[in-house]
Amino acid sequence: MLAQTLARASGIADAFIALHGDLGAGKTTLVRHLLRALGVEGRIKSPTYAVVEPHEAVQLDGSRLNMFHFDFYRFSDPREWEDAGFRDIFAGPGLKLAEWPEQAAAYLPTADLDVTLHVQEERRLVTLRANTERGADLLQGLSA
Ligand SMILES: Nc1ncnc2c1ncn2[C@@H]1O[C@H](COP(=O)(O)OP(=O)(O)O)[C@@H](O)[C@H]1O
Ligand SMILES: [Mg+2]
Repeated sequence: MLAQTLARASGIADAFIALHGDLGAGKTTLVRHLLRALGVEGRIKSPTYAVVEPHEAVQLDGSRLNMFHFDFYRFSDPREWEDAGFRDIFAGPGLKLAEWPEQAAAYLPTADLDVTLHVQEERRLVTLRANTERGADLLQGLSA
């Protein structure tokens, strides 16, 4: 439900959303639902070994949306930031979703939206924090 609402929010196309939470908290699952809601078809691979998995989908208005799913869990080589083009991705258009942003905190820009997931016995708790105007717009959409 969070994924579906986020997918419809204005400003989602170029947003940077950081996902926090322990292993198993549900970060990848939320990203998959969001990508699915944005029109990504087929199997959605987890980027754990590649650090980033790019996706593309055509929106209802016919425009193309680029999406980048990062998992910085194994990110450790600062050169990769430049060499793999991560800097360019974050400077360019498209939706950026990042698991384990703490691992690349020195390089990443401020996230528009921080999503923190906690497992609480049978339930999951989601905390959202907007850090930018775009992030505030995303939150606005969620509470509307
Ligand atoms: N909202 C949810 N409700 C129930 N189970 C969930 C939910 N989100 C994730 N899971 C389950 O929890 C496990 C770990 O989820 P995952 O998304 O891989 O976590 P993370 O990426 O944070 O390590 C998976 O088996 C997944 O099916
Ligand atoms: Mg994950």
